Amino acid sequence: MKGLVAYDSRWGNCEKIAMQIAKGLEDAGIEVEVARSSQKGIQPDHDFLVLGSPTRTGNASRKIRRFIAREISGKFEGRPFAAFGTGILSFRDKGEPQSAQRIHALLENVGLKPVAEPLSAAVLKLKGPLAEGELERAYNYGLELGGKLK
Ligand SMILES: Cc1cc2nc3c(=O)[nH]c(=O)nc-3n(C[C@H](O)[C@H](O)[C@H](O)COP(=O)(O)O)c2cc1C
Repeated sequence: MKGLVAYDSRWGNCEKIAMQIAKGLEDAGIEVEVARSSQKGIQPDHDFLVLGSPTRTGNASRKIRRFIAREISGKFEGRPFAAFGTGILSFRDKGEPQSAQRIHALLENVGLKPVAEPLSAAVLKLKGPLAEGELERAYNYGLELGGKLK
C-alpha cells in the first residue's frame, strides 16, 4: 500500500498540515510520497490519494483544481481518497465553504472513493499561524486514515 499526499500552499500552513498527515500515515505503517500540486507527471501507481489546498473565496485553490483535472482525472477511478485544506478560523466556524469540502466533491466527481470526512484545518490570519491543536489533529487524521486503509 503506497499513497500520495499532494498539496498546494502559499504561506506554508497547508504544507504543514500535509506533512503531519503524511507523518500519521507513515506511523500507521503506510508508505507515502509527498508532492506539491505543481508537480507534473504523477505516476498512476498510487493506491490512494490525500489532497489538500488553502481555501480561496470559498473554493479549492486554482492550482489544486488544475492538478485534479490534469493529473488525477481519468487515472485513479475507484481508488480511495481523503481531502484536507486550510482556511480562516472564523470563516470555518461560521460554516462557510472550505477547500477540503470542495476537493472532496471534485475527487468524488472523477470517480474516486472517499475513506474519511474532509479535514478543514484553521489559520488565525491569512498568512497563519495555524490555530492551536491543528497540527496534532492533522497527525491524528493521518494515523486514523492509515488504520482505515490497512
Ligand atoms: C485571495 C484569497 C482568498 C481567500 N478566501 C478565503 C475564504 O473564502 N475562506 C477562508 O476560510 N479563507 C480564505 N482565505 C485564507 C486562506 O485560506 C489562507 O490564507 C490559507 O489557508 C493559508 O494557507 P497557506 O499558508 O498554505 O497558503 C483566502 C486567502 C486569499 C489570499
